Order: sequence, then structure tokens, then C-alpha cells
Amino acid sequence: MMEQDEFALRKFVAPEFVFGFDARKLAGRYAKNFGARKVLVVTDPGVMAAGWTDDVLTALRGEGLEYAIFSSVTSNPKANEVKEGTAFYQRENCNVIVAVGGGSPMDCAKGIGIVSTNKRDILEFEGVDKVEIPIPPLICVPTTAGSSADVSQFAIITDSQRMTKVAIISKMIVPDVALIDPLTTMSMPSELTACTGMDAFCHGIEAFVSTAHSPITDLHAMQAITLISSNLLPTLDAPDNINFRGRMMLASLDAGLAFSNTSLGMVHAMAHSLGGMLDSPHGECNALLLPHIIDFNFAAVPGRYKLIAEAMGLATMGMAPDEIRAALHSKIKRLREAAGITHTLTQLGVDKSNIPELAEKAMNDPCIFTNPRQPSQEDIEAIYEKAL
Ligand SMILES: [Fe+2]
Repeated sequence: MMEQDEFALRKFVAPEFVFGFDARKLAGRYAKNFGARKVLVVTDPGVMAAGWTDDVLTALRGEGLEYAIFSSVTSNPKANEVKEGTAFYQRENCNVIVAVGGGSPMDCAKGIGIVSTNKRDILEFEGVDKVEIPIPPLICVPTTAGSSADVSQFAIITDSQRMTKVAIISKMIVPDVALIDPLTTMSMPSELTACTGMDAFCHGIEAFVSTAHSPITDLHAMQAITLISSNLLPTLDAPDNINFRGRMMLASLDAGLAFSNTSLGMVHAMAHSLGGMLDSPHGECNALLLPHIIDFNFAAVPGRYKLIAEAMGLATMGMAPDEIRAALHSKIKRLREAAGITHTLTQLGVDKSNIPELAEKAMNDPCIFTNPRQPSQEDIEAIYEKAL
């Protein structure tokens, strides 16, 4: 396949964002500027225990704003949680939403926003540009360095009945402002740091090789890849080091700006399918699949993967493409294992008999369209099998 033309027509959508220490404390001022009467705060018990929700509530009170808290959000937010949250939003007569947390509360908040104005079941919005009516003002305060839901036009909701994840991609769900405060990532335990960091790493890589990439997204994707490959392990070794944490948060922002505009690829399509079945951490699913998908995609865009390998510190001079592919595969595998992600799919609970269904769902995920090489269902089955 030919690489994309450098000047192909592309647009770039990003919300207003504030990055830096204490950004979370601006939530009150922004909510007030958006005309808040009563704010729905969407968060989860872990983030509340860490104290980040309280800081946001203090900021809201500081502006004299009323609020109601919805915290019944699990990891991999479910359609019924969106339904419950929407009913709560309406009952409490809110008119602005503030999400405080990782990808799960932020995606759930986006879902609540969609349903509260569009008045249809959240699962009906699967796919690209299906949201017709704008959502209420949405402020996101991310507390992980990974999902980038705070800057993206993506929301991923689990359909518990079909045991699959639904990807909703729409400009309507780009938040109005992201208040990105690296301090909020200090409370992440190491497993969450590793999984969310590997998720952001996959965002950078999938954005860089996406068929919809552009010179602007390349810049952000490449910076994300460079920052994560040099700061993830140091962060895990020294979790209290704010410089490492800050660089991971910056990397997550970069990766989010990139993938929100390029969409993703096979890693995410296959990880969504897995996550829907297993309810296991999204970043872990991605990380287990990534090296195998690089093997599959490499020949379609070898020059792009060579740049990724070099950004990760591999000396590629004099290497044949196949040697670069193998070196990149093992470099990423080592990074993943050093980060403590060592399971196989079998250990996560996947059986060989599950593979056809997993592959069928992955084929239907909208993320698959921008993968640099279009797979058949058999190709996807073979990759799941390798990762067993
Ligand atoms: Fe992701």
C-alpha cells in the first residue's frame, strides 16, 4: 500500500485545554463561564478516595455552584450506568457535566451527555458521526495518563448483553475544556500506571500508522511515542517523581490529540472486542496485541514503523526491513513485560473456541477502517491465536 499523500485533505479537532499543576482547581471558573446552574459530577470511588473529586467540588463551591455526584461508574463503563447517570442528571435538573477520573468516568459522562439531549439509548450511537444534537457543556479533569478521553471525540461503552464494546466517534463529544493536571496522576497504583501508559503508547503508534494521519497528527503521535518509551519505566520505578509523571501526562495529551483525529487501528478494534468479553483492563488488552499487529501491518508502512523504532532508541542503520520489524516487536515486548504486563490471553480467560466470535466483533469495530492494512477475519483470528 502507498503511504498517504503529505497534503491530503485533513481536519484537526481539539478542545480548549489547560495543562499544568493545579489545572483541576479551575473547574469552578469554567463551569460558571459555561452558565452552570447545577453541575453533574461524574467520577468513581477510587478517584474520590484519592481526593481529586473533593478538589473539584471545592472549586465548584468557590463559585457558588450547586452540584450532584454520580459515582456508580465501573471500569469499562456499561450502557446501564449511562442510563442510570442520565436519569440522575435529569432528576437533579443539572445543566453542565464535570467528569473527574480516568477513561471510564469520562466516557460515561460523554454517554450521559449524549442521551440527555438526544433521548435515545446510548448503544444506538455506535459508529462515526451518529450523534445529532450537541451535548451539555462538558468539562473533563483526567486523573490517568492514558485514555485521553478529555481531548478526544471517542467514547467507548460496554454493551453487557452482547458482551462487546461500542465505539462512539463524534465531534459532538469533544469536551468543551480539558483541565489536565499532572498532579492527579500521582495517586495511580503501578498496575494502572502501566496499563494506561501502554494504552497511550498504542494511541501514539496507531495514530502514526493510521491511513488518516497528517503532518500535524504525526508531530503529536511521535512526541507521545518518544516520551512514553523513555518515561514509562522510570515512572514505575519512581512513582512519586512528578517530572516523570508530568511527561507521561504530556505524552497522553499528545497521543490523544493525534488519535482523536486519525482514529485508531486493529489493536483497538481487537482490544475492544476482548475487553467486552473479559472486562479486563483496556491498556492490558492493547499491550498484549500490539507486537503481533506490528508484525501484520509492518509491510504496509515500513518507513513509518522504522521511524517508530528510531523514536524508541533502536539503531536501524544497515538493518533490512524484516530485521527492523523483529527488533521493534521485541523492544515493545520487553517494554510491556518490564511494565509488569506479562499475561497471555489464555491467562486472561480466552479459550481458542472464543476466537471466531472475537474476530467477528473486531471486524465490525469502526477502528478497523484506518488500519494501514485491511485484515480478513482469518487474519484477525490468527493474531488472537498467536496472543493466546
Ligand atoms: Fe485506548
